[in-house]
Amino acid sequence: MDPLLAWRSEFPILADTVYLVSHSLGAMPARTRARLNEFADTWATRGVRAWEEGWWDLPVTTGNLLAPIIGAAPGEITLHQNVSTAQAIVNSCLDFPPSRNKIVTESLNFTTNLYLFHRLESLGAQIVTVPSDDGLSISTERYLASIDERTRLVSVSHVLFKSSALQDLAAITARAHACGALVSADLYQSAGAVPIDVHALNLDFATGGSVKWLCGGPGAGYLYVRPDLWPSLEPRFTGWAAHRNPFAFDAAPIEFAPGAERFLHGTPNVPALYSARSGYEIINEIGVQAIREKSIRQTSRLIELAREAGIPVRTPSDPARRGGVVTLDVPNGADVTRALARQNILVDFRPGAGIRVAPHFYTADEELDLAVSAIQSLAAAPELA
Ligand SMILES: Cc1ncc(COP(=O)(O)O)c(C=O)c1O
Repeated sequence: MDPLLAWRSEFPILADTVYLVSHSLGAMPARTRARLNEFADTWATRGVRAWEEGWWDLPVTTGNLLAPIIGAAPGEITLHQNVSTAQAIVNSCLDFPPSRNKIVTESLNFTTNLYLFHRLESLGAQIVTVPSDDGLSISTERYLASIDERTRLVSVSHVLFKSSALQDLAAITARAHACGALVSADLYQSAGAVPIDVHALNLDFATGGSVKWLCGGPGAGYLYVRPDLWPSLEPRFTGWAAHRNPFAFDAAPIEFAPGAERFLHGTPNVPALYSARSGYEIINEIGVQAIREKSIRQTSRLIELAREAGIPVRTPSDPARRGGVVTLDVPNGADVTRALARQNILVDFRPGAGIRVAPHFYTADEELDLAVSAIQSLAAAPELA
């Protein structure tokens, strides 16, 4: 008996769809509709009073719901539109003098972070990209060797988006700190699926979003910054919401808020923050540890089924080295993925990796059997060959 299957009734799409794509877009909880109605009702009935009745504080109060999922404390997280914004805020806190101008990151980091870092070259930053031998993972030893006394920032994905390989955040953070560098971890592919504790790891920055494992929908990216760093960080990407007293409308320059609000900018993305809440509540109710235990069981089962079906697996076989996704490599992966969608089996495809299949806490074992046998027969179908 799988107690987490009791949650299935909370996710309408599961009634007619095999939903194995929560690493891309988590299923919508039924209660999110009520939250979005609450947003509309509040706007309709409270009007401008809504700002002081909660809307203005939503970037921090919503972060408080997310905090236990990543081991942060209340008041330490701010909500932004996406990772691109959150990482741009981090970058805008940093200087790159020649003596400390290196940004060390991995070639398999998510594109948006790499695009942002390369834009910092004109400010003196030198981007060091740790290569991957197999296109799926990065050697931790090679990573550690790339970090030195000239490193300003290490940007590391906790779980790599293409292969779901889990990286050794503890070792990378320890090395970075020993060299006087800061660490920014992208938790998008781990938070809600893999236990993470930003305090225990002593991370300086953590970013992520709510679209995937957190089932929070788009528009709710988050930023954690280690509190003892706050007084020393003055983002260049800023705005009036970061001011100590925004409604005084003081003349420039900005006087930063003492708390995490100093990392805000403009008017918050209010409907997205209503939408994000129910996913966080559900993940908190279940607990990430229980989700992870089920995920390891089901990803192991997927790997076993794929091996029996003769489908190559491009995800680490050691459960301690992988996140929640299993990547299956069939030659016509893009076509197979489209054909699966026509059968209401939702997965996705990434070039250079394969078909990404992701069970979440609401997945039934039979759905894994169904998906793998459909992939096996579609991969062999002459019309898709
Ligand atoms: C690891 C990771 N970071 C970031 C993103 C997305 O960045 P943004 O929130 O800016 O769209 C994704 C996927 O969409 C991702 O997998």
